[in-house]
Amino acid sequence: MRMPAAAIGFCKDGVTRFSPLHTVRRMSTSDKRAKFIVVTGCTRGCGRALAEWFIAQGHVIAGCGRREDGVSTLRKKFGPPHDFTLVDMADDDAVMRWAARLIITHGAPDLLVNNAAVIARNAPLWKVPVDEVSATLAVNVGGTVNAIRHFIPAIITRGHGVIVNFSSGWGRSTSPDVAIYCASKWAIEGLTQALAQELPKGVAAVALNPGIIDTEMLRSCFGGSASAYPKPADWAKSAGPFLLGLGPKDNGSSVNVPGVPGE
Ligand SMILES: NC(=O)c1ccc[n+]([C@@H]2O[C@H](COP(=O)([O-])OP(=O)(O)OC[C@H]3O[C@@H](n4cnc5c(N)ncnc54)[C@H](OP(=O)(O)O)[C@@H]3O)[C@@H](O)[C@H]2O)c1
Repeated sequence: MRMPAAAIGFCKDGVTRFSPLHTVRRMSTSDKRAKFIVVTGCTRGCGRALAEWFIAQGHVIAGCGRREDGVSTLRKKFGPPHDFTLVDMADDDAVMRWAARLIITHGAPDLLVNNAAVIARNAPLWKVPVDEVSATLAVNVGGTVNAIRHFIPAIITRGHGVIVNFSSGWGRSTSPDVAIYCASKWAIEGLTQALAQELPKGVAAVALNPGIIDTEMLRSCFGGSASAYPKPADWAKSAGPFLLGLGPKDNGSSVNVPGVPGE
C-alpha cells in the first residue's frame, strides 16, 4: 500500500515520526510468514550473504551499501519486492529518506540488521589517520544510531520487531592495532543495552558477535590467515536461522552466532 508522503512527518530534530493516519502495512507476499528485513551494508561480506539467505527463505529484503556496482548487481539479481539502494549509513539525511521510503512501501521492518561497518588499517592507536578514526566511528556507531533513529519509531508504532546491532569479539575483548574498531564495537554493546532499557514491550535490541568470517574486512586485519575461516555464505546458514529466532525474550542480550569460530 502506498501512503501519501504527508502521512510521515519529518521533525526539526531529524527524527521521523508518524501521523495517526499512518497505518504500517507489510507488502503483501504469497507467504504470510514472510518477514520484511532491512540489512545495512549488504553489497558484500556478511550482509550480502545474509540478504541472499533471507531471500532464499522467502523473506523480503531491503539493503544498502555505498558501492554502485554492488548495489546494481543485487538489483539485477533480485527485483521487487526486494529493494537495494545506494545509501551511506553515516549520512543521517540519506538514512532518513531511505527509511521513510521503505516504511511507506513495505511497512516497519520485522528485523533491522545493523551490519554496515568499516575497519581502519591495522596500526597503534596514535598512528591511525584522523580520517580513518572519524570514518570508523561515523559508520560503525553513527550509522547504527542513524538506522535506529529512523526505523524504530515505525517499529514501536507497529508494536513488535527486532533490532540486531553487529558487534564483534572485539566488542567484548581487545587486541593491539585495532583500537578504534574495538572502541566502535564496545560502543555498540553499550548503546544496545541502554536502548533495550528504553524500548517498549514487544520490541527487542540485541548486540551480535557474528564470529570470525572470511570477508574483505577480516582480510584487512588478519591478512592471508583469513582464508582459514568460514565463507560468508556458509556463515549465513547458521546466522540466518539464529537471527530469525530472536524475539522480545532476547531484549538487551549480547549474543553470538552459534557454531562459528570466535563465538
Ligand atoms: N568478518 C568478520 O570476521 C567479523 C567479525 C566480527 C564482526 N564483524 C562485523 O560484521 C559486520 C559485517 O562485516 P564484514 O566482515 O562482512 O565486512 P565487509 O566485508 O567489509 O562488508 C561491509 C559491508 O558494509 C558496507 N558498508 C561499509 N560502510 C558503509 C556505509 N557507510 N554505508 C553503507 N554501507 C556500508 C559495505 O558496503 P560498501 O562498501 O558498498 O559501502 C559492505 O557491504 C560488520 O559490522 C563487522 O564489524 C565481522
